[in-house]
Amino acid sequence: MRELLESLRSASRQAIDQAVDMEALESLRVKYLGKKGELTAILKQMGKLSAEERPVIGQLANQIRGELEAELEDRKSALAAKMQELRLESETLDVTMPGKEIRLGKKHVNNTVLDEVLDIFVGMGFSIVEGPEIELATYDFDRLNIPANHTVREWTDTFYITPDEKVHLRCQTSPVQVRVMESMKPPIRILSPGRVYRKDEIDATHSPMFHQIEGLVIDKGVTMGDLKGTLNTLMQKIYGPDTVTRFRPHHFPFTEPSCEMDVQCFECHGRGCRVCKGEGWIEILGAGMVHPHVLEMSGIDPEVYSGFAFGVGLERLTMRRFQISDMRLLYENDVRFLNQF
Ligand code: DAH
Repeated sequence: MRELLESLRSASRQAIDQAVDMEALESLRVKYLGKKGELTAILKQMGKLSAEERPVIGQLANQIRGELEAELEDRKSALAAKMQELRLESETLDVTMPGKEIRLGKKHVNNTVLDEVLDIFVGMGFSIVEGPEIELATYDFDRLNIPANHTVREWTDTFYITPDEKVHLRCQTSPVQVRVMESMKPPIRILSPGRVYRKDEIDATHSPMFHQIEGLVIDKGVTMGDLKGTLNTLMQKIYGPDTVTRFRPHHFPFTEPSCEMDVQCFECHGRGCRVCKGEGWIEILGAGMVHPHVLEMSGIDPEVYSGFAFGVGLERLTMRRFQISDMRLLYENDVRFLNQF
């Protein structure tokens, strides 16, 4: 029995020494010291011993139990210390390491200008409305007084969606005027930004998709003076208080009279240079007094109400504002370019 106890002593010592975690230690405790453990099993056989041997073996067994308990305890604290060390090591933070750069996004320059324009008009009491990009010929052409034989209706100009020419990608934001007149009663003061589509070849000043901002005002007694005042305010707010404009007669089917507005070239102040191609002026938008027939077609009495409308290309505003010479730069999304603004 002494041998049995001795071999348990050395086997358990070795096992405890090699235990790698708390769980392993606990199962060793059960294995050796538990109620059904190996030490208890040996002690159960004490009855077979002689009266002289019994106290000697009993003492040895108690001693081994004490040793085992102490060893388990020691190993336990050693493991705990080790774990703590590992945890600290894995959680070490080197505060001297350089940080990771957080890249912030930036508003696209077109949106910067658009937001400015929206702010200016909201300040003048306009509401912002949006219309669909897939539009009906009724809204984009018929009810804007655009004649059946107008070139804009050609397949070479417009992206048709249905072969019957009833549905297409809108080529201007003007159809929103009709939608607004249909759903709102005067007084009307709206601004409508959005994408438009034309079959244009891409170059420095053209793109098959670009953005327009449409404006419409209808009330009693609205005059061309209101149109000029409103658009001059816009120009002075975005290009500076010294901005000089001029209004030239033009033709649009949905306005009468119609005009185009130019701003004096910021480069040469009207003398003529490379930027304005020698003109001294830069064309900026189309506008006019809403045609009485357009009002009538949308159920507004032209004898009672009058209005003005305008449409301006957002890219053109942006390019003039930041002196960007090539429209393609606005769509290439090269952040080295876009981050400049
Ligand atoms: N829709 C015109 C275009 O795309 C621009 C325009 C001209 C809009 C005169 C208007 C307007 O509202 O009155 O060329």
